[in-house]
Amino acid sequence: MVPYLVQAARRKPTPYTPVWLMRQAGRYLKEYRELRERHSFLELCKNKELIVEISLLPLKKFPLDGIIVFSDLLLSLEALGLNLVYPEEGGPKVLNPINSLEDVEKLSNFKVHETLAPLSEAIKTLRKEIPPQVALIGFVGAPFTLCCYAIEGRGSEGFLKTKRLMREAEEVFDKLMGKLTRVSKLFLEEQVKAGCDVVQVFDTWVGVLGPLDYERKILPYMKKLVEGVENVPIIHFSTSTCGFLELISEVGDVIGVDWRIEIGKAWERIGYRKAIQGNLDPSVLLAPKEVIKEQVKSILDSVSGRAGHIFNLGHGILPNTPEENVGFLVDLVHSLTGG
Ligand code: CP3
Repeated sequence: MVPYLVQAARRKPTPYTPVWLMRQAGRYLKEYRELRERHSFLELCKNKELIVEISLLPLKKFPLDGIIVFSDLLLSLEALGLNLVYPEEGGPKVLNPINSLEDVEKLSNFKVHETLAPLSEAIKTLRKEIPPQVALIGFVGAPFTLCCYAIEGRGSEGFLKTKRLMREAEEVFDKLMGKLTRVSKLFLEEQVKAGCDVVQVFDTWVGVLGPLDYERKILPYMKKLVEGVENVPIIHFSTSTCGFLELISEVGDVIGVDWRIEIGKAWERIGYRKAIQGNLDPSVLLAPKEVIKEQVKSILDSVSGRAGHIFNLGHGILPNTPEENVGFLVDLVHSLTGG
């Protein structure tokens, strides 16, 4: 049986609109927070049994149509030889960020196998454990979003250091993007081989660029990343990219959009040969149920029942989201679309 989410990704009709949530295996879950009291974040990401346990947590609570494998997209930086840490406060950091060509030349794929091994093992187990109608979702970081962390060493407002390097040290930028594309492609192919039904590429920060830079400096790498991956649909996710949605749509089978655009209008621009994913503002899940209902209805009205919609948030679920509202959302999407 082909999972409903995969059918929707192929623009085939489904009994109801499939739904999953970015960051669904995370801190809003009590059981996740309990595990984090006993283990560091990296310990969780490197232990096969714990990856399986955490990936399954949301499915035990809510009738989701897909589960995402628990990991973090910055692990591929570690696999290349960068020193990655997750302090308790303030988000992840790379302790030895890229400054020069020499730094890029030192990066190698030597730890890729070691990093991927627990993830692949977990994927094999998960595919056996979840019902056939539920999709197993793998993910990788897009080269630009990884590049931002590799260069800045941390999250940032406008990623100015990255933009300056892109324009003022083209060779460094291009070599780094090349290496990041290759490592993400290895992660992507391995997750497909291990049994993922669909893979999402996260380009969370690419919205800091404009269309000219995107087309010239990013799109060629994105095309390389997905080239030859044919057995599973690719979800191409980004945020703040409404200004060049047509370019984003050149890569991927499903285009993930955030809440800054009306989803029906986004689909019109993307074209109906692609499926669409989105796009509830994650902060709506903090609101009373009537507000959630109104916003969900507006999204469903906007896509007007067209086959090929995967319901999701426009970005990751917020850590202070009440679990009850997540259950309400999943049931609501199903019941309003025929489930
Ligand atoms: O549930 C899932 O979606 C699966 C797992 C997943 C995580 N991170 C777990 C995580 C996925 C798909 C990601 C993607 C990710 N990681 C992105 C892209 C998507 C996005 O939300 O923008 C980015 C930019 C990262 C890098 C990253 N990892 C940041 C910026 C942070 C700290 C801020 C934050 O939101 O926590 C992390 C840590 C992280 N990744 C946690 C989890 C559950 C929290 C770590 C903890 O338990 O303290």
